[in-house]
Parts: sequence; C-alpha cells; structure tokens
Amino acid sequence: MRVPHSSKPRVLSGIQPTNVLHIGNYLGAIKQWVDMQKEYECFFCIVDLHAITVQQKSKSLHENIRRLAAFYIACGIDPAVSTIFVQSRVSGHAELAWILNTLVKVSELERMTQYKDKSNQHRTNINAGLLDYPVLMAADILLYDTDVVPVGEDQSQHVELTCTLARRLNTQFGNVLKVPKLKLCVETARIAALDDPLKKMSKSASSAMNYIALDDASKTIQQKFQKAVTDSGRTIVFDPKRPGLYNLLTIYKAFTDESEQAIEEHFRGNGYAALKQEVARVVIQALEPIQDRYHALLDRRSELEQILDAGTKHAHAIARVTLERVFRALGLG
Ligand code: AMP
Ligand code: TRP
Repeated sequence: MRVPHSSKPRVLSGIQPTNVLHIGNYLGAIKQWVDMQKEYECFFCIVDLHAITVQQKSKSLHENIRRLAAFYIACGIDPAVSTIFVQSRVSGHAELAWILNTLVKVSELERMTQYKDKSNQHRTNINAGLLDYPVLMAADILLYDTDVVPVGEDQSQHVELTCTLARRLNTQFGNVLKVPKLKLCVETARIAALDDPLKKMSKSASSAMNYIALDDASKTIQQKFQKAVTDSGRTIVFDPKRPGLYNLLTIYKAFTDESEQAIEEHFRGNGYAALKQEVARVVIQALEPIQDRYHALLDRRSELEQILDAGTKHAHAIARVTLERVFRALGLG
C-alpha cells in the first residue's frame, strides 16, 4: 500500500487525455516516470481541465481519461506506489490557478510558445483558458510541494514560468511555495514526427503517419516506419544534421538501451530499409506487453475506477494542506 507521508522527494507530472498516446509521450515522459518511482514519491495527473482548452466531445473525453489511466499503469506506473489521479476531481487545482492568475502578467502568458502555436491552430477558439493554460499547470505542480517535474522539452517554458510564479508569491507573502526543478530526459526530450522530422511527434497531427501510437497494430507500425521520411545518404550514423535518420536511431537506442557505437556497428553496411525494419521490430517488441496489459485493464473497469478514486482522495488531502497555507499567507477567507 502507498505510504501516506513519504520522506522521499516528490515528482509530479501529467498528460492531457486527448487523442492517442504516442511513443514520443512514452519516451519523453512516461518511461522516465516509471524509473523515478523507486526514488521519488510520485503524482501522475490526468489533466482533463487542460484538455478542454481545445474543444472536446464529452463522451470521448470521459473515455480518454480511463484509457490514459490504463496506459499509465500498462507502461509501468504502479498504483500501489504512485498516485494516479484526475485533475478536475481535485478542486484545489482550479483554486490555486485563480490565485496565481493574480500574480502573472498577461504579457508573460502571451510569450509562451505553446500558446502561440495553439492559437494559430485553433483560430476560431482562442479562449482565455488557452492563454491561462500554463498557470493551471503551475498550480498542478505547486499544490504538491513538488521537487522535480519530468517532462519533454516542449513543456520546459511552462515549468520555468511555474518557478517564476512560486518565487513571486514567496517574495510577496513569505516562504509559502516550494520552487520545483525541471527534469528533461535530454536524448528523448523531442522525438520527431516520422513524416516530417523537423517537427515534433504530436498527437494532434493531422496525419497518423506522424506518430506511432502506443496501441498501433504491428502491421501499422511496420508500415509507418517503412514510410518514415529520411534523406538520400547511405551510412547509418548518429548525425543530428540528418534529422530523419537521427530520429530513427534515437528511437532504436531508447528502446534497446544500446550505445550509439554499438548501434552504428550493428547497422554497418546496411541501408535504410534494413534500419527501418529493425526499428519497427524493437518498437513492436517493446509495445506488445504494454498493449496486452492495457487491453486487460480496460476489461476491468471497476478496478480502474477504484484506482482513480483512491488516487484522487490521496491527492486531494495533500493539495488541501498547501492551499490552506496559501490562503493563510494571503489573508484569504
Ligand atoms: P502532450 O502530448 O502534449 O500532452 O504531452 C505529454 C508529455 O509528453 C509531455 O511531458 C511532453 O513534453 C511529452 N511529449 C509530447 N510530445 C513529445 C515528443 N514528440 N517527444 C518527446 N516528448 C514528448
Ligand atoms: N502541459 C502538459 C503537456 O501538454 C501537461 C501538464 C499539465 C503537465 N499539468 C502538468 C505536465 C504538470 C507536468 C506537470 O504535456
């Protein structure tokens, strides 16, 4: 059973329950979460309030929350050790976000790269929540006195803003919030899209050729790698100036844990077709047991609901303590 008060440093991270999960999410985020469970007390959030900053269908949002929880567990997050919970069910997230809203400058939010990207993508729905997204993320992190935030590179700007807001509140009101640290997994912090290696692999991409979804069938995975964009070179070496090839090798390395030297040696004398086939093989091999566990979990719905209920209860209790501290420091209530 989970220890209610651990002396281990805390980790908090989250993913939006939107669309499909892909190997970029797995390698950039979830894989390192799994490893961190030994040394840290971990909180893994399903950030559904973030998801509604772009339009969602209520039925699929509800189902996607369950699917994401099942993927967390199937990938190796152990609900007996770590807390898995749904953001919207812990009211403190929205409450702290409101307070932080009074400390953040609109100009700081307008500078965020993700806001600029998303408001370009969703021109007819540039809602205030889209702009405010990083403040809610700061609340997610700061509510749990988080020490470390493991995310992919695209989220580092948001974690930096979180630290700025915590320091700002502390300067005005005393030492109230813990200032967290960002943890990037450098090598896999930005897995590129298969159909355009200059872009990041993304679940909101218009073409499914962009990504390998965690629940893609073996045949689909083979086909997607076969069609992956590379260059006209011949040698198979880790060269960041050849982004398509580099991405395939990075994926191979992440799934095999072999050294770059060993991998280059392994592929010496081979062409891109052989490389693509091999990358597909190691990815299929790694995803197979995850997919089996995922489907088994989706067949045991009540167990999944129980895990989310217990996680939410635990998260809520901790969030309340921080929030009371913030209320007191600000003179609220
Ligand atoms: P999102 O898909 O935006 O909800 O991201 C969930 C987590 O996966 C975050 O920690 C992201 O930084 C990470 N992530 C998303 N896309 C990639 C990618 N292409 N490469 C590495 N990490 C990623
Ligand atoms: N914004 C993150 C993303 O799109 C998800 C997220 C929300 C998150 N709250 C968080 C990540 C808190 C880490 C910590 O990927």
